[in-house]
Amino acid sequence: MTTYRIAPSILSADFARLGEEVRDVIAAGADWIHFDVMDNHYVPNLTFGPMVCQALRKHSTVPIDVHLMVQPVDALASAFAKAGADLVSFHPDASQHVDRSLQLIKAEGCQAGLVFNPAQPLDVLEWVLDKVDLILIMSVNPGFGGQSFIDSALRKTERARRLIEASGRDIRLEVDGGIKVDNIRRVADAGADTFVAGSAIFGHPDYKAVIDAMRRQLA
Ligand code: DX5
Ligand code: ZN
Repeated sequence: MTTYRIAPSILSADFARLGEEVRDVIAAGADWIHFDVMDNHYVPNLTFGPMVCQALRKHSTVPIDVHLMVQPVDALASAFAKAGADLVSFHPDASQHVDRSLQLIKAEGCQAGLVFNPAQPLDVLEWVLDKVDLILIMSVNPGFGGQSFIDSALRKTERARRLIEASGRDIRLEVDGGIKVDNIRRVADAGADTFVAGSAIFGHPDYKAVIDAMRRQLA
C-alpha cells in the first residue's frame, strides 16, 4: 500500500510567525515541510535562504523538503544541506551539470530530487534516475502560490510513475501546485505519493481540517 505524504508549503504561511506556523501545521498532521526557495532570477519572486531554514530546523520534527527555484544551484544546495534540509530538489535546466549537482546533494547527506516545470520533458531522467530519490512534477509554473492546477501534469505524473516502476528503485513522486481537497485524489490516481499544498492549507483557518479532508480523499 502506498504511504501518502502531505507536504504543506510554507510559502503561504504567515512569514511573521514562521516557527509557530511550522509547529502548528506539523501538529495538524503534516508529513514534511515544503520549503520554497525563490531567487528573483530563476523565478520572478524572492523568498528565504538557508539561514531561515536553519532557524526553522529546530521547530520541525518532520523532514524539511527544500525546493530550490534558483540559478545557479550548487552553492545553495550545499548551504541548505548544512542548514538542516533532509531533501533538496532543483530544476535540471537551472544546473549546468545536473549529475554533479545530484552527487553533491547526496554527498552532503541529503536525498536529491529533480523538478520538472509544466512544459519540460522528463528526458533527463533516463541518465540520472539511479541518483534520484525524488521526482517533483510542477502542476503550476514556479514562482507563486495560489495558482490553478495545470491538467497536463497528470499525464506527466503517470509517465514518471512508469519510469519509477521500471527502475525498481524507491523514488518518491511529488506533485506541486494548485493541489486542493477536490483534486488530490486525481493526482494520487495518476501515481503521485507526495503532495505539496500551500494556499489550500495555510489559506484555511483550520489546518487539521484540510489535512484530514485530504487524507480522507486518499484513503
Ligand atoms: C510554486 C511553489 C509551490 C507553491 C504551491 O512555485 O513551488 O510549492 O507554494 O502553492 P499552492 O498550493 O498554493 O499552489
Ligand atoms: Zn514548491
